[in-house]
Amino acid sequence: MAVDLLLGLQWGDEGKGKIVDVLTSNYDIIARFQGGPNAGHTLEFDGIKHVLRTIPSGIFHESAINLVGNGVVIDPVVFVQELDGLDQFNIDYKKKLVLSRKAHIILPTHRLLDAASETAKGKAKIGSTLKGIGPTYMDKTGRNGIRIGDLELDNWKEKYRALANKHEALIGFHDVKIQYDLKELEDEFFTAVDRLKELTFIDSEAYLHDAMDAGKSILAEGAQGSLLDIDFGTYPYVTSSNTTAAGACTGLGVAPNQIGEVFGIFKAYTTRVGSGPFPTELFDDTGAEMAKVGHEFGAVTGRPRRCGWLDLVALKYTCRVNGVTQLMMMKGDVLSGFDKLEVCTAYKYKGETITHLPFNIEPENVTPIYTKFDCWKEDLTQMSDPSQFPKELNEYIDFLEKELQIPIKIVSVGPDRTQTIHR
Ligand code: IMP
Repeated sequence: MAVDLLLGLQWGDEGKGKIVDVLTSNYDIIARFQGGPNAGHTLEFDGIKHVLRTIPSGIFHESAINLVGNGVVIDPVVFVQELDGLDQFNIDYKKKLVLSRKAHIILPTHRLLDAASETAKGKAKIGSTLKGIGPTYMDKTGRNGIRIGDLELDNWKEKYRALANKHEALIGFHDVKIQYDLKELEDEFFTAVDRLKELTFIDSEAYLHDAMDAGKSILAEGAQGSLLDIDFGTYPYVTSSNTTAAGACTGLGVAPNQIGEVFGIFKAYTTRVGSGPFPTELFDDTGAEMAKVGHEFGAVTGRPRRCGWLDLVALKYTCRVNGVTQLMMMKGDVLSGFDKLEVCTAYKYKGETITHLPFNIEPENVTPIYTKFDCWKEDLTQMSDPSQFPKELNEYIDFLEKELQIPIKIVSVGPDRTQTIHR
């Protein structure tokens, strides 16, 4: 049995939470493989809107097991808040939620270090969500981290103290003032750890291998987007994990030949939060309209998202890096009634026209070249079948499929579970 992957192909916020929720009924296990509470996966059903941060987006379904993989970083404080948020839905999370012993833990001092490091960067700041993600992954690769499995050992608090002391020294090293009350933060942290210990910790790679042997179906859920990948994203304005398909192998212990379908999600336009280059960004009324109609505000930080046209150069690149087999286009409904649409199909780069993503895509290096389209005028949000699609939407979809050579299998026309059209 293969593991299918679901990934964001842009700078995150493509709508992965909604699609995982829609697809969950086809799978026995939903497994998150990277990132942490910097993610905000929004789901809407029965008139309720819910944002998940670390917990996989299959948690609302009856039967699926939701697994937090070794590649994820877990903040016990945020995790417990998420559990509390689930209480209103009567979810038996002790049964339906399992955590990898190899997942690393975000300490309160990781969050403080994130703040100190970002503040010290001044104008060059990444625009981090300040959830402690970068410092936690640094401790992972530095071989200093504390993992979920450590919580089962008697001496883990000694390990904690040594690491927290080191972090305090590092915070002092940054030439910035960070106000904090560590005692208060630690009280909150240790209380949350006690709650976390009531959950089921597992050797997740063995669990997944056994599940595959038993013929169970698995969907691996990515967080953030491919252009935020630590290797293939717009470095240094990226997150600290591999958000691309290979991250599912390292973040779950799944071998490359066990990967089945790779579902790639993209918006009909592009958004980005935080700093960093964004060639097709719009600074005019059209960009402002996308942000307004699309409710483009960060699910975690509430920050307004930057908006722009679809960038096919970047999308082709992320489709190739991930080996995408099926595409899903989100938020086409947001563009209804726009005067016209534009899609970037090439860049002007050092006097040449290129169609691959170069090393440096700062505005001074690349100028997007656009193809123009007529935009659909009809409201898509009530449609339920592709036969209802306006001609202009079909032309847009056909063009993208031809350029990318990958079928667009789902067109999402609104935030609700039911507003999902299969082609
Ligand atoms: P960090 O991972 O919180 O340190 O943030 C690094 C960069 O990734 C910043 O530009 C963030 O805005 C961006 N980022 C992190 N998580 C998300 C997400 O879930 N959606 C969109 N952008 C994100």
